[in-house]
Order: sequence, then structure tokens, then C-alpha cells
Amino acid sequence: MSTLATEPARAAYRDYAKPGIERVREFYRNNHREQTVAFVAAQRVKWLQFNTRQMTPWAALDYLNTLVDESDPDIELPQIMHLLQTAEAIRADGHPDWFVLTGFIHDLGKVLCLFGLPQWAVVGDTFPVGCGHSPKIVYPEFFAANPDSSDPRYNTELGVYTAGCGLAAVQMSWGHDEYLYQLLKGYLPEPALYMIRYHSFYAWHREGEYRHLTDARDAAHLPWVQRFNPYDLYSKNPDPPSLAALKPYYEDLLAKYLPASLAL
Ligand SMILES: [Fe+2]
Ligand SMILES: [Fe+2]
Repeated sequence: MSTLATEPARAAYRDYAKPGIERVREFYRNNHREQTVAFVAAQRVKWLQFNTRQMTPWAALDYLNTLVDESDPDIELPQIMHLLQTAEAIRADGHPDWFVLTGFIHDLGKVLCLFGLPQWAVVGDTFPVGCGHSPKIVYPEFFAANPDSSDPRYNTELGVYTAGCGLAAVQMSWGHDEYLYQLLKGYLPEPALYMIRYHSFYAWHREGEYRHLTDARDAAHLPWVQRFNPYDLYSKNPDPPSLAALKPYYEDLLAKYLPASLAL
């Protein structure tokens, strides 16, 4: 039986209007002002060299535990518990092991916060840069302070892109999704890579925006990204599974797909 939250309970998640949400608003104020074409280009140069640290996958997951995600209105659990709950909910539904592994590592890119990047450059919803911002992105009013919003190269519907160019040709706001995708792209099946790369792109996978940029490959993989989303959101549970008991299973799974050591 599925361990996910039931439909009525789901309405309480991602509720950005609930009290005490000032921290999340401040997060998006910074994110939407600073994530520009130039900022993303600089981050790609800096982080896609993967020369910051060498760690085993398990050590990297352990390292993540010191982080509390400021963009998330729902969770104050340690990151590894969020990953474990996501993966366990996927496993309970009988999905293939690479899908379970995807649940277990999908936020591993948040190590960027521990490498010194501010949270607004690592977590939160993502969106394309280099073209107009969808009004369905969370807190769209904060884009008024983004210099790209008044740049005629970047503020039209297509911006620097061509219609149907495909998301692979689209630069997304910088964050843990793209970073982890680039790190793992040789190791996992394509549906897993789509889930990793676009799980925070709510304007696309939930709101149906940016269809003018997507291609047939994106359309074919959208259902996978959507299938993943409830596990990410609704498996958040104050009653955590036992990490110690499950560690051997997940260590084997990491070893099956990933290299013994990751250059982060
Ligand atoms: Fe994430
Ligand atoms: Fe997540």
C-alpha cells in the first residue's frame, strides 16, 4: 500500500500563504533577483569542474545532514531523512531499483550549500533564464528586481531560445538539480536523469508552462518527473524510518549504479 499522504492532507503542503513563511519569502526575494543569465553562466563555470571535494556517495549524503532547507515550508527533518523517506515510499510502491535510488540521492546536489553557496543559489523552485518569467512561478512579483526582466534580449517569451528547442538547450536557474544531473549523467537511466534535473521545475511539471520551449523528448519524460514529485513532497513524515536498519540496502544500491568515489 502506498505510504504517501492522502489527498486532503496534501493540500497542506507547499502552502506559501501559511503563517511563519517570511523566511521562504525572503529566500525567493533573493533567488528571483539574483538568478540571471550572467549568474548562471558563472556558476556553471565554477561548479561543473567538480574540483571541490572527493567523497564516497554515502559520506556526501551524511555531510548533507547539517543543512536545513530555507525554501521548504514543510520540513525541518535532516536531509538524509527526507531522502530516505522519499526512497522508501518509492520502494513501497514496487518501482524499479534505479527509481528508488533516484529518490535516495535526488537532493545530493544541496552539498553546494556546504561548499559556501547561499541557499537561494542551490534550493527552491527552478525556472529558465534567458527568456520571460512565467507568472506561475512562486512569488513572480520578485522578478521585477531581476535585471534580466528589463533586458530586451531576455524578457520576451522565447528570449534567446527557439521554439521547440528542447529543455536540454535551455539554461535553468542555478541549483542542486542541474548540478547533480551534470554529476550523474553517465550513471543513471534517462528517466532518472530527468527526475533529478527538473524536479524543482514546478512551472513546467505542475503548471504546464514553458511548453513552447520543450521538445518530444521532454514531453515523453514529463510523466516520469510528475511521477516522482509526490514522493518528494508527500513522503515528508515526522515519524522517520530507521537509517541504521536500511543502510546496507542503500549502500548496495549506491554501489550498483554510482562510482565508489564522487568528485564534487
Ligand atoms: Fe530537491
Ligand atoms: Fe527533495
